[in-house]
Amino acid sequence: MHFSQDSRLLSERSMNIVDQVAEHIRTLVPYAPGKPIEEVEREFGIPNSIKLASNENPLGPSPKAISAIREKLAELHLYPDGDCFYLKNGLAKKLGVAPEQLIVGNGSNELIELAVRTFMRPGDEAVMARQAFIVYPLVVQAAGGVGKVVPLRDFTHDLKAIAEAITPKTRIVFLANPNNPTGTIYRRSDWEQFLERISGEILVVVDEAYFEYVDNPEYPNSLGYHQSGKTILTFRTFSKLYGLAGLRIGYGIGAKEIIDLMQRVRQPFNVNAPAQWAALAALEDNDHVRKTLEVNRQGMEYLENEIVKLGLERVPSHANFIMMRVGNGHEVFQQLLVQGVIVRPMGVYQFPEHIRVTVGTMEENRRFIEALRKIMKKG
Ligand SMILES: Cc1ncc(COP(=O)(O)O)c(C=O)c1O
Repeated sequence: MHFSQDSRLLSERSMNIVDQVAEHIRTLVPYAPGKPIEEVEREFGIPNSIKLASNENPLGPSPKAISAIREKLAELHLYPDGDCFYLKNGLAKKLGVAPEQLIVGNGSNELIELAVRTFMRPGDEAVMARQAFIVYPLVVQAAGGVGKVVPLRDFTHDLKAIAEAITPKTRIVFLANPNNPTGTIYRRSDWEQFLERISGEILVVVDEAYFEYVDNPEYPNSLGYHQSGKTILTFRTFSKLYGLAGLRIGYGIGAKEIIDLMQRVRQPFNVNAPAQWAALAALEDNDHVRKTLEVNRQGMEYLENEIVKLGLERVPSHANFIMMRVGNGHEVFQQLLVQGVIVRPMGVYQFPEHIRVTVGTMEENRRFIEALRKIMKKG
């Protein structure tokens, strides 16, 4: 009898803790990732499904990264280097910055969260585009902050409106360049005018997860502005160009004082050892980088042409994905799924008529276009 009384007490207590959870946690809407291939194959029984939903590298990981991990597998019983010494030195040399200006994270996702946890207090504001990477508002809300969202203009960050949305409570401005999900970039002149209006007291986070794909002379690489007297923190990732999304590794570049504060907040071993070995090797893998950019260039050209031939509108993209207007985005996403093609519906970004597709290998791109053509014919 004792037992049942105890368990009743326990269940009452656990109700209690749930009830006490703060409103800003209770109302969080969980991030919905791209559907994994295994899930689609299980649900629909379709073998050989393809995933063009999470902007991953269609060529796979850098071969040099795979070798680096293989060589060191017998060291997996050891904790990783909490300071990422070798990787930071490799990055520092490549980027022309000091290792103390670098922080490495469990994906750039973790760095977004670290920036918020380090620089925002409950009630503080962060300004961001309404249709930018959805993780920004999520982590701000999770920290008890307030996300102030500014609509895009022509699918692009409206830097003027973003500057105008800043208040004395603003701590961080998040910018994604290129932006996800639109693939658009803001230009150098707009960025420089924006910076002129921004006080050095505001942390400007520039998320450059896709910067390597950009081939446009008007693109402002944010690293070139770190000495401008503004407080700029640049985030990049090994998940896209280097094909290491499964390992979870990204890096941030900023002033030493900014990085030093974030280092205090992160977990001691936030970046696993294989990720560090792989990332360092991938940095040197010029061949993989060159092939990846070429496959992306060709794939983007093919997709753009085919989308136009289908009579659909698309948003011109500077990254490794492209957003297009298909009518009912969720319906088209579902109809592609049953043909074994996974893309991303855009309702969560308030583009219910669009889908976003990652540029794949030529074979994958053709399969996507064929599947889409069938749907458009029916519709
Ligand atoms: C704009 C942007 N920032 C950051 C990330 C997160 O990348 P990571 O895998 O490094 O966490 C993504 C991933 O899709 C992204 O699109």
